[in-house]
Amino acid sequence: MDSYLIGLGNNDTKTRQEASQDFVKFWESQAKKLDWFESWNTPLEWNPPFAKWFVGGKINASYNALDVQKPDKIAIFWEGENEERQIVTYAQLLDSVQRLANGLKSLGVKKGDRITIYLPMVPELIVSILACARIGAIHTVIFSGFSAQSIKDRIVDSQSKLVITADGGYRRGKIVKLKDVVDTAISDLDFVSNVIVFQRTNHPITMTSKDIFWNVLLEKNSNICPPEKLESTHPLYILYTSGTTGKPKGVLHDTGGYLTHVSATFRWAFDIKDSDVYFCTADIGWVTGHSYVAYGPLLCGATQVMYEGAPDYPNSARMWDLIQRYKITIFYTTPTALRMFMKFGDEIPNSFDLSSLRLLGSVGEPINPEVWKWYYNIIGKTKCPIIDTWWQTETGAMMISPLPGLETIPLKPGSGAHAIPGVDLAILDESGDTVPAETKGYLVIRKPWPGMLTTLWGDDAKYKSVYWSKYKDTYYTGDYAICDKDGYFWLLGRADDVLKIAGHRIGTAELESSLVSHNLISEAAVCGIPDQIKGEVIIAFLVAKEGVSISDELRGQIMDIVRKDIGAIATPQSLYFVSKLPKTRSGKIMRRLLKAIASNEKIGDVSTLEDGAAVSEIQSAFDELQKQIRSYSFSS
Ligand code: PRX
Repeated sequence: MDSYLIGLGNNDTKTRQEASQDFVKFWESQAKKLDWFESWNTPLEWNPPFAKWFVGGKINASYNALDVQKPDKIAIFWEGENEERQIVTYAQLLDSVQRLANGLKSLGVKKGDRITIYLPMVPELIVSILACARIGAIHTVIFSGFSAQSIKDRIVDSQSKLVITADGGYRRGKIVKLKDVVDTAISDLDFVSNVIVFQRTNHPITMTSKDIFWNVLLEKNSNICPPEKLESTHPLYILYTSGTTGKPKGVLHDTGGYLTHVSATFRWAFDIKDSDVYFCTADIGWVTGHSYVAYGPLLCGATQVMYEGAPDYPNSARMWDLIQRYKITIFYTTPTALRMFMKFGDEIPNSFDLSSLRLLGSVGEPINPEVWKWYYNIIGKTKCPIIDTWWQTETGAMMISPLPGLETIPLKPGSGAHAIPGVDLAILDESGDTVPAETKGYLVIRKPWPGMLTTLWGDDAKYKSVYWSKYKDTYYTGDYAICDKDGYFWLLGRADDVLKIAGHRIGTAELESSLVSHNLISEAAVCGIPDQIKGEVIIAFLVAKEGVSISDELRGQIMDIVRKDIGAIATPQSLYFVSKLPKTRSGKIMRRLLKAIASNEKIGDVSTLEDGAAVSEIQSAFDELQKQIRSYSFSS
């Protein structure tokens, strides 16, 4: 196994020592680095599985992100996909945030109200988030690739009274008409009283009596809005994410604990300095964008690049051009993006000056060692540590990662190294025993941590059953992992039915219910199969109703339904029509068998798969399915 002995020369052993002595006291010392209006009286109230951090403390996220920072420092170098550019200082952000916060108040928004935000990657998205945080409204950001139906489901679930959107945004040179999508989503939702519309693309749109232009609202409201002194436990945001069952779940995060975890990890992982130019390519619609675009950099007073569009538009040199032009020092992206860049060869990045880089990061899915090495050699020119950061929407911030801001350790391509200080991870077998080194098991978290979700919005029962029912008082991550003999964690993908497409979570149940909503389809089962670029792509097995003839037209209709119900990211790569789905005697779909079939694996590999079925049962289901597929399959 190759190991890379590189870091940034930091050697702080005290932090880990303190964390291992008393994790609560340790997190208190991290919380003290933020600005509190009032200190807490109880650092942690733990009534499993409900945790409350820094109880009694009063804090405000926007105050910490803006008011306490240097006003003239550049917060954002923004670049539109169409090469429009804008420089935004901390003072300018604060000005807009206060105006919008007052604007929200003037529209009747109060502490605890939910606000849905559906915007492209523009500075106004960060302004919207912080304006909500300033007055204690709970933001729920929806990725701008989601469909009207997805937005509607989320607005209904969160009961948002107001939506902030834009006329449109640019993606691959085209305008994505966001306002039209919102109009459809809320057409019969009377409880949504207003829509604030930022003009990004300036194409013609229809304004209704509920709609207010962003500029008009900001102009008529004052730029002084004192931050609300909020309880540490006050909800900061809801972020919807896919699970194995039903509709997406609203992951709820608090204020004080979340900010503590995000700011500490931002410092430890990125070794942030005043002179750094940081760039995280994640969209704010996903958790990485919440924690490491919207909150982390601002809480630490960093300067960052924010980019609106597709990473390979107009060509695959876009990222390298940004790094060269803004002299980016820290670059945080996904394995999917790296695999795509790698495919275009070394010549393109080699023709740019990437010498400003000093630290590289990866997030969202396992990074294959070849890609890690390419990143290290070609992008980092063998002088930048790579941090492979493992975490989840639910954990709020990084849980496993090398931390060059703290320590210098040997790096192993494909491993995230160790748990961050103050976090207690273990790998368990089915019965809850810790597995020996080098043995695959389920990754769990044994103690509460400050960034943890507080519950699922409106559904404590589901919160308990999804995360806390497999093992007693222990958080179940849903991931397989091993720990090697040196204590390095290796993440091996999901142990449940959650798909990871280009690092984005797609729930199997949600997708299957969309597929069967076509009136000619009676049953559907989806699985993910390995893909060289996206990590995984979706394959759907469908049973059509009696007498239905399979045609390209039917396939087109099915794809349209998925696009409409969820969004283009969830469309299957291939559809296989079969007359019957393989099921165990207890009626469970043999999803792993489907996966094996779609990946062209042999039955020998399949028989070891864990669907709770007998080998002979799997063998006959396999043979039968293969016969059927030969007669019906076609790819999209
Ligand atoms: O399976 C793990 C994978 O992404 C899941 C969490 O997805 P999400 O909530 O969308 O958050 C993604 C951004 C943090 C995890 O359960 N995952 C995330 N990071 C890594 C990873 N798998 C391997 N290596 C990683 N670095």
